[in-house]
Amino acid sequence: MIFPKNELNLHNPFELHNLFLSITYKTNHMATTKKAEKTTGKRNAGKKTTANQLGAASKRCMAMEDRYGAHNYHPLPVVLHKGEGIYVWDVEGKKYFDFLSSYSAVNQGHCHPRIVKALKDQADTLCLTSRAFYNDVLCEYEKFMHQYFGYDKVLPMNTGAEGVETALKLARRWGVVKKGIPNDKVKIICCEGNFHGRTVTIITMSDDPSSFAQYGPLTPGFIRIPYNDPKALEEALNKYGDEVCAFIAEPIQGEAGVFVPDDGYLKKCFDLCHAHNVLFIADEVQTGIARTGKMLCSMHDGIRPDIVILGKALGGGVLPVSACLADDDIMLNVKPGEHGSTFGGFPLAARVAIEALKVVKEEKLTQNAEKMGKIFREGINKIHSPFIVQVRGRGLLNAIVTTPIKGKTAWDICLKLRDNGLLAKPTHDHIIRFAPPLCINKKEILEAVAIIKKTFEEMSE
Ligand SMILES: Cc1ncc(COP(=O)(O)O)c(C=O)c1O
Repeated sequence: MIFPKNELNLHNPFELHNLFLSITYKTNHMATTKKAEKTTGKRNAGKKTTANQLGAASKRCMAMEDRYGAHNYHPLPVVLHKGEGIYVWDVEGKKYFDFLSSYSAVNQGHCHPRIVKALKDQADTLCLTSRAFYNDVLCEYEKFMHQYFGYDKVLPMNTGAEGVETALKLARRWGVVKKGIPNDKVKIICCEGNFHGRTVTIITMSDDPSSFAQYGPLTPGFIRIPYNDPKALEEALNKYGDEVCAFIAEPIQGEAGVFVPDDGYLKKCFDLCHAHNVLFIADEVQTGIARTGKMLCSMHDGIRPDIVILGKALGGGVLPVSACLADDDIMLNVKPGEHGSTFGGFPLAARVAIEALKVVKEEKLTQNAEKMGKIFREGINKIHSPFIVQVRGRGLLNAIVTTPIKGKTAWDICLKLRDNGLLAKPTHDHIIRFAPPLCINKKEILEAVAIIKKTFEEMSE
C-alpha cells in the first residue's frame, strides 16, 4: 500500500517509531534550543557581542550553533541569509557590504549568475564519478588550467589545506627522486607568521600557538625562518641546502594581517632557491585569482613559482576547489595510487572552476582589483583616527592596523562597522582585513570608505 507523503500509517510499527522519535526530538530540541538561547553569548563571554541588538531570528541561529556546533570559530554576531554581488543580507533583512568575501573565496561576488548556472547545469548532468573512471569535464578543466596559467599539469584537490599538503608531497617526492635527498632527511623551509591551513603537518609550520599547541606530536622536516628576510633564506640554504627540497611562502601573508613583503623579496628568494636547486612554492590560496591586482600575486615580482597552490576563489564562491600547478619534472614523480582524493577534480568542481576563472578574465576583475584597491587605500589614508596605526595592502587585499583605546579593540570596531552596514573581521586581535568581492565599483568603494570613516569617528566619541 502506498501512503501519501505526509500521512502516517499508524498500523505500521516503523512509522509509529519514527513518529515517537520525531516528537521526542522536537520536544528535546525545543527545550535545548530555548536553553541554548538563554546562554547565547557564553562563547562570546570575553567579547562584547551587542547580542541584545540582534533580532529573534539571529539569536535563535546563534544559539543553535552555540549548542550543537563545535566551538572552533568565534564569528562576528551577524547571521547571514542571502548574498548577491558585493552584498549580503542577514536573517532580519539588513543589508551589508561584505568586506571579507569569505576570506577571499568570493572574489567573483556572491551567487554569481554564470557560476551558479554552471553549477546547476552540471549538477543536472553528472556530479561525482571519483577518479576510478574518466569523465568528460575534468579533462576540459585540466586543459583549460594549462592554457590559463601556463603550467604543464594541474593536480586537483578540494580545500586549500589539501592543496598545501599536495604541494609539500610533490616537493618531498621531487627532493627524493630528482635531487637525491635521502627520504628521511628531506627538509622544507617555511616562514615565521605563515598560515597555510589546519592539518597536523601544516600546523607544524606555524609559529602561532593557537594553531599548533596541544596537537602534538608534530611532523618533522621543517625549518622556519623570518619572513621578508632573504638573508635568512640564504643562511638556511647555505647551512641545509643539500637536504632542502623546497621553500614555501605566501606572496602576502594574509592571516598574519595582510603583511606585504618588500618589493623584490619574492624574486630574491626565487633566485636563491634556484641557485641551490630548491623548489619555490607559492601558496596563492588567498592571494591568487586576481585578489591583489595580478592573476597571481607572485607576478608582482615577475616570478613563475615552481609550484603554485590555488584554492578559495577557484571555486567561484560556491564550492571548495583547490589545485597545485607544476611542470612535468615535478608532477610526474607521483604515480597512480600514490596521492589523490575522492572528490578532487570532480565534474561539478571542474565545471565551476572553469566558469569561475572565465568570469575573472571576462569581467576584468584583476584590473578592477588594482584600480579599486588604490582608491580604497587613498580613501582610508585620509581618515585620521587615534585607533589607526597603519594602512597596508595590495589590490583589494588590505588591512588597517589598529591600537586599542580605553579598552576598545578591533573587535569593537568591527561590531560598529557591522552596525553601520559593513562586515569585516579582526585578525590577530588588532588588525582588520578589508577584502571585498573584486566586482566592486568606484561608487561602492567610496560608500564603504565613508562607512569606515564614520565608524572610526563614532569610536572616538
Ligand atoms: C594562504 C593560505 N593557505 C591555505 C589556506 C587553507 O585553506 P582552507 O581553509 O581552504 O583549507 C588558507 C586559508 O585561509 C590561506 O590563507
